[in-house]
Amino acid sequence: MTYIARAELAAAVSEAGGLGVIETLTPEGRADLRRVHELTDKPVAANLMIQGWKKDPSIVDKLAEAGVRHVFTSAGDPALFTKLLHDAGMTVVHVVGSLKGAHKAAEAGVDALVVEGVEGGGFKSLLGASTMVLLPLIAENVNLPIIAAGGICDARSAAAALVLGAEGVQMGTRMLASQESMVHTNFKDAIVAANDAGTVLLDIPGNPTMRVLRTGLAARVAAHDPTAQLLGKVTELYFDGDMEASVANTGQVSSRIVDLLPVAEIIRRTWGEIEAVLDAARLRSGTSRTP
Ligand SMILES: Cc1cc2nc3c(=O)[nH]c(=O)nc-3n(C[C@H](O)[C@H](O)[C@H](O)COP(=O)(O)O)c2cc1C
Repeated sequence: MTYIARAELAAAVSEAGGLGVIETLTPEGRADLRRVHELTDKPVAANLMIQGWKKDPSIVDKLAEAGVRHVFTSAGDPALFTKLLHDAGMTVVHVVGSLKGAHKAAEAGVDALVVEGVEGGGFKSLLGASTMVLLPLIAENVNLPIIAAGGICDARSAAAALVLGAEGVQMGTRMLASQESMVHTNFKDAIVAANDAGTVLLDIPGNPTMRVLRTGLAARVAAHDPTAQLLGKVTELYFDGDMEASVANTGQVSSRIVDLLPVAEIIRRTWGEIEAVLDAARLRSGTSRTP
């Protein structure tokens, strides 16, 4: 999450037993790869947006110098960076939104996949499948560990992802709407206020397809208003709270987020309540093993 996935948020995730991820597209994010070691001694990963770095493999040296051991590559051809990252001793997890993408990542030799459904926030494929379809499809056809993403915010959705074939889960929108996330409260409050019609998938020629909050700007962009700028002044949205300065990447799961929790509480509730959620599902299905 460019500008958002910074050291404080990533450290909070890792301290709580997850694996925090820091973005590398901004100089601040890259500096945080080192600064985060002052906040936690737990492992923290980096996100490498391939589209942004494909002409500059020096990012691999920067990651190595900062002590990064795990890299989540996304938005581009995994063959470009996987070997370089492996040669530098790093684990590579690649984000995919299709079975074809998963096969391609497996051929490139990645260690694991993030399988992300079209309900998730951020860049997407217009023809992308939902997490419910994509996860079992890839789990049954590709022999790699899977981290599920898209639509996950709590124990119920994480348990569903495990049943569908994942080993772990990744949360974007839920972490964006956490207490430690440094985005302006207007953005967080808009996520909390969103209902199940609260996001829209924008597919504007010449731009990446994106799932965003259904703001006034998003409606104008969707209506092809030539004066509406898709990713205009994203920092004014993130840090000044101007919800019309840029479209606001957000997942459908915003409709299930009703409060701004500390990261540790999100993670504690997610993993701590999984067993109870699965037990309740067994009871409802009549397959409970308890007498
Ligand atoms: C504001 C925002 C920015 C994002 N930026 C990135 C990014 O830079 N790189 C990336 O791999 N994924 C990015 N994502 C996707 C998230 O990492 C995550 O996979 C996704 O949000 C999961 O779906 P969810 O929103 O339903 O939790 C972004 C998501 C959001 C909401």
